[in-house]
Amino acid sequence: MFSNVSNFSLSFSCLVLHSAFSDIYDEDHFIKTLEGHVKVARELPQELMERYGFNFSNIPNFHIEAWAPASKYLEVVYPVLQEQKVIRIAPFANRLAMNIPPHVQFLRCLSNYEALRFSFPISTLAMILVDRMRHNSSSSYGKYVSIHLRFEEDMVAFSCCVYDGGQAENREMNLIREKGWGEKFKRKDRIISPGLNRINGRCPMTPLEVGLMLRGMGFSNNTAIYLASGKLYQADKYLAPLQKMFPLLHTKESLTTPEELTALQGYSSRLAALDYMVCLFSEVFVTTQGGNFPHFLMGHRRFLHSGHAKTIKPDKSKMVLLLQNTSISWEAFKDQMELMVAESDRKGVMVSRVGKSNRKTSVYSKPFPECRCLWESQNLKLDH
Ligand SMILES: *[C@@H]1O[C@H](CO)[C@@H](O)[C@H](O)[C@H]1NC(C)=O
Ligand SMILES: *[C@@H]1O[C@H](CO)[C@@H](O)[C@H](O)[C@H]1NC(C)=O
Ligand SMILES: *[C@@H]1O[C@H](CO)[C@@H](O)[C@H](O)[C@H]1NC(C)=O
Ligand SMILES: *[C@@H]1O[C@H](CO)[C@@H](O)[C@H](O)[C@H]1NC(C)=O
Repeated sequence: MFSNVSNFSLSFSCLVLHSAFSDIYDEDHFIKTLEGHVKVARELPQELMERYGFNFSNIPNFHIEAWAPASKYLEVVYPVLQEQKVIRIAPFANRLAMNIPPHVQFLRCLSNYEALRFSFPISTLAMILVDRMRHNSSSSYGKYVSIHLRFEEDMVAFSCCVYDGGQAENREMNLIREKGWGEKFKRKDRIISPGLNRINGRCPMTPLEVGLMLRGMGFSNNTAIYLASGKLYQADKYLAPLQKMFPLLHTKESLTTPEELTALQGYSSRLAALDYMVCLFSEVFVTTQGGNFPHFLMGHRRFLHSGHAKTIKPDKSKMVLLLQNTSISWEAFKDQMELMVAESDRKGVMVSRVGKSNRKTSVYSKPFPECRCLWESQNLKLDH
């Protein structure tokens, strides 16, 4: 599910797992679930590895465009695979179009919603967190809201948006951009326009903005909130207002002891997997920025809750206009927020597979109707 672990090699029709796979996923379960469909190997045969000096990087790599048609694999990739016996495909995420034969689409459903399961240490701790969240929201029947916030330092820097607008912020952001992306943001042809980014809804929402939005949408201060996020940019300063609006605010750090987190600490993808699971079982999921994480989560929640999972996906351009408006009353703001929820619900049920594939319109975020068959077979199993 996460692109950083999706580095596979193909050898004939056999998929070889990257060693990082088992850091996050249950490898045995993955192999067993795909049995009879795809042969999955843990490592390449010695004689093949030998040919490439026991170095994966030497295996020829295919750089395939995103959402490539099936014909690309059959006509271009497959002949080379037959000849070479092994190839790499990297990057691997979103490499196949949505418009493919149903039996291949079924495999995609099977991989996403049944074969990929987090490893035992991750899923065990995640379920403990879910229990604690449910316990903490006992006044609302164990229902809690999860928010995927992307207000981490590198996200804020990458967005080129301005927050408090001070000299210190500017200096700090320039430093992070230089450290992370070198000269990329300094090239002459690169025009940075923070104002335009904001108006276009491309700026990461602050905790305060998310808080105002949710209160406007009618969530009271008694709502238990799970905040899924990496380390927030200037957490002390920016988190306080949200904490004040929602005293029952939790994060993976606040719900666990340092010892419990130790095993996953230092691996951002394992910590993200933890967040993923707690968001998966929340009553409402609030997404504030695009990306693989929220899109897969939306699809997974729909699959799990038979299409009825509630996701709030704010219209960020509209949010900007409303939040900038100093003459708007709280009542008028609330009316606007209610309209926004209705619009977000309406868009959530629409399935459009026309035009260009992308992750927003794919089975990754809208699993039905294509994955209905798998869903029915899983529910049949549960009934018996
Ligand atoms: C593997 O191959 C790559 C590219 O061919 C090379 O840059 C790298 O140093 C090699 N790694 C090892 C461990 O030999
Ligand atoms: C929720 O968690 C907070 C902080 O951990 C705790 O003070 C509070 O008692 C919990 N509430 C419930 C209802 O469990
Ligand atoms: C929410 O606000 C009400 C009224 O101001 C207050 O009585 C209550 O304690 C607050 N709830 C929490 C969880 O702080
Ligand atoms: C601000 O809000 C008021 C009241 O809802 C509205 O009449 C006005 O048009 C808004 N101003 C802008 C610039 O959107």
